[in-house]
Amino acid sequence: MLFRLPPPFRVLPPASFGIDLPPGSEERAASLLGRLANHFPQGAAHALRVAQLVMAMWETDPEWVGPADAALLGSLLHDVGKLYVPRSILESDQPLDGAERVLMMEHPALGAELLAAQGFGEDVIAVARDHHERWSGPGGYPSGRPAASMPPVVRVVAVADSFVAMTEPGRGYRPPLSHAAALREVAACAGTHFDPRAADLLARSLVAWREMAFEPTAELAGEPVFWPYGRGFAATAPVSGF
Ligand SMILES: [Fe+2]
Ligand SMILES: [Fe+2]
Repeated sequence: MLFRLPPPFRVLPPASFGIDLPPGSEERAASLLGRLANHFPQGAAHALRVAQLVMAMWETDPEWVGPADAALLGSLLHDVGKLYVPRSILESDQPLDGAERVLMMEHPALGAELLAAQGFGEDVIAVARDHHERWSGPGGYPSGRPAASMPPVVRVVAVADSFVAMTEPGRGYRPPLSHAAALREVAACAGTHFDPRAADLLARSLVAWREMAFEPTAELAGEPVFWPYGRGFAATAPVSGF
């Protein structure tokens, strides 16, 4: 199946964020994203969308969000634990049953373990482990701890992840929401599900996100994949080597 990313997915000039990634982390992140693209192409496309929105939020308030490398790597790899969730569950257009839901809800912990084993930094690991936790605590997973105790980058990825999930195509069980409708949903859940400051930052960053200058469009699954931040790899390699 060819999964083609829709238009605003283009490559940003590498100097734009001035990101200095830890040695080797680009290659490790690219390898993991390539594996995710092979296992679940929509998941890799989702990761790129979340990363773009998170970096727009980082540009809007870099001091609060924190180091750019954790924002970029954390957002790109937040769902990497889905490598261990069967594709039939990830692509299901039916409500998940109990056992399937349990498997799906293990992706944060599994992703965190994988990232820790590969030597990623604490904040990157925390994003993978805690991006489904809630501001108020109960209802989030895996721990149900209030997100207030977590680094801002975790709360930023949490709200960006939900906004992207609500608005992106490819969810068989429901049509995508408009940006306006998803923003209303985020605002309604600020203070319970989401950190109010992160929700406000997302709203303030949407214009920057839409105006990011990316070229050219990326594609997934058997086609060249273009790295959204133009870090000098993956520009022409097939997805299996990405
Ligand atoms: Fe997730
Ligand atoms: Fe996600």
